[in-house]
Amino acid sequence: MYVLAINGSPRKGGNTEEMINKALEPLKTSGWETEVYQLGGKKIRGCIACMKCWENKDSKCAVDNDKLNEVYEKMVRADAIIIGSPTYFTDVTAEIKALIDRAGMVALANNREFEGKIGAGVVAVRRGGATHVFDTINHLYQINGMLIPGATYWNMAYGLNKGEVNDDAEGMANMNNLGRVIDWLGKAIKPHMDSFPKVETQYGEN
Ligand SMILES: Cc1cc2nc3c(=O)[nH]c(=O)nc-3n(C[C@H](O)[C@H](O)[C@H](O)COP(=O)(O)O)c2cc1C
Repeated sequence: MYVLAINGSPRKGGNTEEMINKALEPLKTSGWETEVYQLGGKKIRGCIACMKCWENKDSKCAVDNDKLNEVYEKMVRADAIIIGSPTYFTDVTAEIKALIDRAGMVALANNREFEGKIGAGVVAVRRGGATHVFDTINHLYQINGMLIPGATYWNMAYGLNKGEVNDDAEGMANMNNLGRVIDWLGKAIKPHMDSFPKVETQYGEN
């Protein structure tokens, strides 16, 4: 089983990365293949609404000159996707917003390619706005028929400077709980993925 964690912070080794690594620990121990993909700080543009993904239906964004298709391919292969973002003005970073809009649309256009995958958001925050960031990430999962695991809080941890989230014991314990729930859920649903109920009405058809 493969879990892809996408780090939306441009700050390598920062709080979001610490949180992601904490959530991945129990998954590693349990034998999952794990990958952290560093998206923050990389060139990735927003959706240009060309809607070519609905014509081409080739599991690719038609704008193929940045990192989107590279990360999209990994998302398609993943059993579970973790998207991590710091709180930037009470929302995700620009890189994560670009990912949500473009990967979300390509997946919908390609027979709802993310259906049945596990999706979790994790959010680093200094003081305020993390629940909004968490909601933004979950919107990608919800419209795409993905399964959102619960944990013991809303997957946020507090810190400003690099590493400060490690002082937030409850936040980091939540990350560990999240990883354990993803592990349990992933193993429980894997044998049943062929019977996942496909929707009959596609986005944009009514
Ligand atoms: C451009 C920018 C905007 C930010 N906006 C907020 C905010 O709205 N609320 C908040 O609590 N912290 C805000 N912060 C602080 C970061 O969310 C916080 O430092 C976080 O731990 C950074 O995570 P990282 O180390 O993974 O980059 C902001 C930081 C930056 C650089």
